[in-house]
Amino acid sequence: MNNTVAIFSSARANGNTEKLLNSFALNTDIDIIDLSDYSFSEYDYEYKNQDDDFMPLIEKMLSYEKIIFASPVYWYAVTPTMKKFLDRISDLLELPHLLDSGRRLRGKTAYVVCSSASKKVPNSFICAFKDTFEYLGMFYGGFLHANCAEGYQVENYIDDLNGFRVLFK
Ligand SMILES: Cc1cc2nc3c(=O)[nH]c(=O)nc-3n(C[C@H](O)[C@H](O)[C@H](O)COP(=O)(O)O)c2cc1C
Repeated sequence: MNNTVAIFSSARANGNTEKLLNSFALNTDIDIIDLSDYSFSEYDYEYKNQDDDFMPLIEKMLSYEKIIFASPVYWYAVTPTMKKFLDRISDLLELPHLLDSGRRLRGKTAYVVCSSASKKVPNSFICAFKDTFEYLGMFYGGFLHANCAEGYQVENYIDDLNGFRVLFK
């Protein structure tokens, strides 16, 4: 059974980040969840948003052992929707009836897939993920980054794609 899911967000469909994810998915069995297919609101201190799509989304994500977070680099950070998703994980740590779901994140392995218009992914981008994974008790598995300064050029990413695939063996 496939045990890897990618949580994907971008401001555009079929953009560089989605193309990178699809290149990876060509030879590796993963399921992809596009956050734009779900309707969930930002973190609310009063938790008035509990009937939105966030919990069904989390339950689906928790059924996998390996979780890829895929986002372009927008101003050294993730997309607003990915940030909103990460913020909502706070619900799992704060609401007593969701604590069990939060604990199920522990021990899972998390990865990052990203594209930018730079040679290197900014440290701030990767560190924010790493720190989040550590806080949640998840293992950090590694990242795949594509420099798309000249558009999506898959031939430039072959080595990195192959290296990233090895992490899922
Ligand atoms: C709002 C916005 C902010 C961006 N900020 C950065 C940045 O901080 N560093 C960078 O290298 N590229 C930046 N880029 C370029 C994108 O990361 C790059 O084009 C990426 O491949 C876009 O992926 P997408 O097609 O999935 O949106 C930015 C692009 C946009 C639209």
